[in-house]
Amino acid sequence: MTHLSVPDLQALFVNCTDHCNLACRHCIKAAGPSFRTAIAKDLLFAILDEFAELGGKVVIFTGGEPFLYPHLREALLRAGELKLDSLILTNGTLLDEPWARLLGGLKVRLHVSLEGPTAETNDAVRGTGSFELAVRGARRLTEACVDWGVQTTVSSQNAELLPDILRLAKELGARNLAVANMDRYGRAATNHPELIPTRSQQRYIAEVVKRVADIGSLPVESTYLQWLALFENGRPPEPNGYLLRCGAGRVKCAITADGIMLPCLKFFQMPCGNVAREGFTAVWERSTVLRSLRQLAQTRTVEANATCAKCRFAPCCNGGCRAVVHNETGDLYGPDPICWQQSQCDLCLVESHDQDQ
Ligand SMILES: C[S@@+](CC[C@H](N)C(=O)[O-])C[C@H]1O[C@@H](n2cnc3c(N)ncnc32)[C@H](O)[C@@H]1O
Ligand code: SF4
Ligand code: SF4
Repeated sequence: MTHLSVPDLQALFVNCTDHCNLACRHCIKAAGPSFRTAIAKDLLFAILDEFAELGGKVVIFTGGEPFLYPHLREALLRAGELKLDSLILTNGTLLDEPWARLLGGLKVRLHVSLEGPTAETNDAVRGTGSFELAVRGARRLTEACVDWGVQTTVSSQNAELLPDILRLAKELGARNLAVANMDRYGRAATNHPELIPTRSQQRYIAEVVKRVADIGSLPVESTYLQWLALFENGRPPEPNGYLLRCGAGRVKCAITADGIMLPCLKFFQMPCGNVAREGFTAVWERSTVLRSLRQLAQTRTVEANATCAKCRFAPCCNGGCRAVVHNETGDLYGPDPICWQQSQCDLCLVESHDQDQ
């Protein structure tokens, strides 16, 4: 297989460690203080080299808590030498002044996670004391001129808090607000299913996210905005319109703390190969799992499910995120659980039929 047949690898998610100083109620990894698996430094360096060689653009360091990964500093330096952009997803609680100064010098970006605008609301999810420490860390980033944003994972329980989170983010010096969707993984799945929005709550959450984006005080990034624009205008906004189409194994992949490649961070159920044993490029090019996902993306995924097959939006979203669909249903071909439109697919059919005439 040549590089040409596996095009467009852009983003690499590195789960550098499972270790975390917090144990959040919703954690996708169910991470916490007792987990210690971390990716070996030499392996991570080899992965970064090969990723750059393949034309990769951005490395997203996540975990666990990346600031508990002993080789984070060297990994960021290496990524910089390779002209890769770096983004760190962090709980922000361990950001001291030396780190902030270093990050400012390295020109990396960070997302600091906050689930609420106050200690009470944030700590209900992230644990007592986490708000104060994250806010202190965030202020240090601003003082050191680091490009950082707030990341909030939204559920029906904190959606109404988003305007206040935006206000806080602006006051702290954040440059954007990223609103991520809450998925049925980790502790959210096992201990707190009440955090996972129902399909009818998804539309409501999307409308709140839109209201917050319209305030305009900071740029808001969210797939909710993409879905909303798709349903309102028939296509998601450019330049990120591709976001709704599943990019797993095509534009992105992920590496776990024990060196396993996944098609994306949320595709735990589909390991592609052991990168330590086989090499990053070899797994990326030869994995049968990745080949089948690429095949799936080339065909109309949605023709295989009755709901999407009759939907006029299918050419844009191709059914949405394959990882969460598969995780929710065990079926690779179903509609994205976020899609609140699917209950109205008869309406889509009528509209599509009308347009054809
Ligand atoms: C797993 S954490 C790792 C990085 C860091 N420890 C932090 O909390 O930002 C990365 C992001 O995933 C989000 N997250 C955690 N559990 C999730 C879930 N069940 N569904 C979607 N996102 C989740 C977190 O809120 C955080 O913004
Ligand atoms: S969400 Fe982040 S901070 Fe919270 S337990 Fe998981 S890895 Fe740790
Ligand atoms: S029903 Fe399927 S094709 Fe239509 S918008 Fe929803 S996920 Fe996309």
